[in-house]
Amino acid sequence: MSLPTQVRLVEVGPRDGLQNEAQAIDLADKIRLVDDLAAAGLTHIEAGSFVSPKWVPQMAGSAEVLAGIQRRPGVRYSALTPNLRGLEAALQAGVDEVAVFAAASESFSQRNINCSINESLQRFEPLMEAAARHNLPVRGYVSCVLGCPYEGDIAPTAVARVAKALTEMGCYEISLGDTIGVGTPNATRRLIETVARDLPRERLAGHFHDTYGQALANIYASLLEGVAVFDSSVAGLGGCPYAQGATGNVASEDVLYLLHGLGIATGVDLQRLAEAGQRICQRLGRANGSRVARALLAGRA
Ligand code: HMG
Ligand code: MG
Repeated sequence: MSLPTQVRLVEVGPRDGLQNEAQAIDLADKIRLVDDLAAAGLTHIEAGSFVSPKWVPQMAGSAEVLAGIQRRPGVRYSALTPNLRGLEAALQAGVDEVAVFAAASESFSQRNINCSINESLQRFEPLMEAAARHNLPVRGYVSCVLGCPYEGDIAPTAVARVAKALTEMGCYEISLGDTIGVGTPNATRRLIETVARDLPRERLAGHFHDTYGQALANIYASLLEGVAVFDSSVAGLGGCPYAQGATGNVASEDVLYLLHGLGIATGVDLQRLAEAGQRICQRLGRANGSRVARALLAGRA
């Protein structure tokens, strides 16, 4: 299969990235991050999460973030919603889209959202109905698609089952999450081939954490399989509170460099993105997790 000519990036740094920071983050910094990402040309930004503040304290201010940003036309600002209550809060906050999240592993489902996979799908039903009434697009995540921190290997057919169920419920796109970043390219290709028996490839997205340094290779493998939507996190921010040792998503700057090198259009300005990442890293006092950003910014200095 030939490579796509265009890729849509879903920037998850303000959610997947910041949700894992233990330190308090100023609301102004969260807002500035989202605005900087939109200014760099990203059109799809996951800006927060309407989950229990006891489970993920860092996302408690998501409504304030959405109230504070300067909305750019053409940009979709989305948030995670685990249940109807989350959806109602997200609607109140004026999101353009929400995302539900299920897992391909029973143990991870229990640890992450405190219920079985089937219970989670049932819980999404009223949420999906309410979203449809509001014409709100819903994206679906499946976690642990290439391995689980508690169960190890996960069968691609287990992922396909959940991806199909979420699609039948009304999710317009399924983001396949390598939550702990253990996948390698051949496993990624097998996974996509299996999931694509039930779903068109245009409805699939890749969400690779970079724990084992395989994310870019897995993205390339996914591109060869016809996937053209990828989630990434500026400066490689983040991890997962329910997957010990997992690092952040692949850095958006690194994905951009790969895609532009392949002649694939994204509409995103790499230099501006790198500057946005560097700014939030400085505010958090953390090292920049993007090798491309480090190289670019060092070159400029
Ligand atoms: P629960 O304890 O089973 O359910 O939590 P509950 O209904 O009994 O609620 C517990 C408490 O949360 C109650 O408060 C509720 O009111 C409150 P209390 O009475 O104890 O004071 N609550 C809420 N508060 C705010 N907003 C809500 C909400 N719902 C209930 N929407 C629940 C179930 C799903 C709520 C909980 O397990 C939870 O919030 N989990 C969040 C997990 C999470 O956010 N994980 C990280 C995101 S997923 C991820 O990172 C993976 C991904 O990136 C893809 C990948 O990498 O694979 C997407
Ligand atoms: Mg994630």
